[in-house]
Amino acid sequence: MYFQLTEEQQMIRQAARDFAQNVLKKGVIDRDRDMIYPYEEVKQMAELGFLGMMVSPEYGGGGMDTMSYVLAMEEISKVDSSCSVIMSVNNSLVCWGLEQFGTEEQKRKYLPDLASGRKIGAFCLSEPEAGSDATSQRTTAEDKGDHYLLNGTKNWITNGGTASIYLVMAQTHVEKGHKGINCLIVEKGMDGFIVGAKEDKLGIRASDTHTLLFNDVKVPKENRIGDDGFGFTFAMKTLSGGRIGIASQALGIASGAYELALEYAKSRKAFGKAIADHQAIQFKLADMATEIEAARLLIYKAAQLKDAHENYDLASSMAKVFASEVAMKTTVEAVQIHGGYGYVKEYHVERLMRDAKITQIYEGTSEVQRIVIGRSILK
Ligand code: CAA
Repeated sequence: MYFQLTEEQQMIRQAARDFAQNVLKKGVIDRDRDMIYPYEEVKQMAELGFLGMMVSPEYGGGGMDTMSYVLAMEEISKVDSSCSVIMSVNNSLVCWGLEQFGTEEQKRKYLPDLASGRKIGAFCLSEPEAGSDATSQRTTAEDKGDHYLLNGTKNWITNGGTASIYLVMAQTHVEKGHKGINCLIVEKGMDGFIVGAKEDKLGIRASDTHTLLFNDVKVPKENRIGDDGFGFTFAMKTLSGGRIGIASQALGIASGAYELALEYAKSRKAFGKAIADHQAIQFKLADMATEIEAARLLIYKAAQLKDAHENYDLASSMAKVFASEVAMKTTVEAVQIHGGYGYVKEYHVERLMRDAKITQIYEGTSEVQRIVIGRSILK
């Protein structure tokens, strides 16, 4: 399979690369160390059109394809995965979900603000007792005629504190299991909606991850996405695309670490020559380059299937599980190649190693991806 990028896709990749290298790199270590949310950087990402890339221009978006989004995600993730997860959730989970399944009124009301980055969105599925087992939602949305009464807790919500628009999955008809779940659009400021504690995380430390609490929040009926009981299908379909975004994030982390390791190996001398001239290091670099390329091809295939409106559930899970494992392995090796320097913050690779881990956990753990892949191939 040969992927020829269009001129427009190459320009988008270059714009993302310039932005990441010229703007994001500066300050990334401080933001990570002190958990500083990148307000200014997110504003600039919005101005560059990176927060609503795939939203149609009719609703204020860039009207770009998934491939362009993948390219931008990779470049930004090479430098700052806190920024790329903010971007990914807004693009793939919130904007895409709303545009595909929202009513015309919902799209007109919410998409222009989200696509322009004037407002940020969050996707609220995970709960204290419903992570991988997403059908076991405890949050309830009781049908009260013209509104739902929302009660419950959501955990580990990316953009939890900074978002203004939240897509919240909740159980309406317990007896129907996952077919009784709804997705409701909740706005910050609705009575009874509380943003809880911010998490102190291993990686992606500049992104804000929160617990959210809903105590008798009145959500108007017109804020439900899709028919009654569509919420779980909505979450699964949306996550399928989201996984292409996270796979691209993993690819960016891996290629960022690889580029740093390659550069370092060429300049660092040991035993009378550059360490890159030692076979032990060459073998590591060869494996890194090969696995990164394989991850890239899986991701491009998933993106191309999505752009061609073909089924991409299997491809996106394959891309995500493989790319995230490559990210973990590559970043560990990049630290190893750097030796003692790799273990300190100023050389960036230890941060990339910490950031890599989350790509094996969020938007479906590696185990969940294998469930999706296994069921698909056995069907
Ligand atoms: N599209 C449409 N429908 C789908 C689907 C898809 N991609 N995947 C599953 N479904 C449907 C199934 O067809 C089934 O419907 P029927 O009963 O009508 O046949 C229904 O959903 C339930 O599916 P399963 O029987 O497969 O459910 P399960 O409980 O056995 O397992 C799972 C499903 C794949 C493990 C799923 O629960 C899952 O994906 N879990 C992980 C959740 C996740 O990714 N969470 C991430 C949180 S969001 C996040 O991380 C964002 C962030 O902040 C960065």
